[in-house]
Amino acid sequence: KKILIINGPNLNLLGKREPTVYGNDSFEDYLKQLREKYPQCEIAYYQSNVEGELINKIHEVGFSYDGIILNAGAYTHTSIALHDAIKAVTTPVIEVHISNVHARESFRHVSMISAACKGIVIGFGLESYRLALESFIGK
Ligand code: DQA
Repeated sequence: KKILIINGPNLNLLGKREPTVYGNDSFEDYLKQLREKYPQCEIAYYQSNVEGELINKIHEVGFSYDGIILNAGAYTHTSIALHDAIKAVTTPVIEVHISNVHARESFRHVSMISAACKGIVIGFGLESYRLALESFIGK
């Protein structure tokens, strides 16, 4: 299966950014482990801090890939444009968050994209990505 993981704004700093909230591991290291664990799966990765670039990427793969795992960072809470992009494509999208957004500031309690997604995985640290991936792989 072909799966794309998309990380949005500030997630390029994983491992350095607020480690008490997001952990000490870089995403590149975690991705390496995921690829080793699931060799049957082609796991592509894209990160951008720019809202429109995230939308362009969803359009680019959203009619051919088997699944998209999207951590939209803070755009989760603001972006109707991302909601529309997810709706516009045929590839199912799973929304993921590393932290439990519902245990944090109230402005993180609302997601503009959840209703457009197939499912949501929240609050399991980096393992949120693996859980989403396994749901696409079907194990
Ligand atoms: C996040 C939660 C968001 O509220 C925040 O803006 C992020 C990361 C998470 O993975 O926990 O950048 O999406």
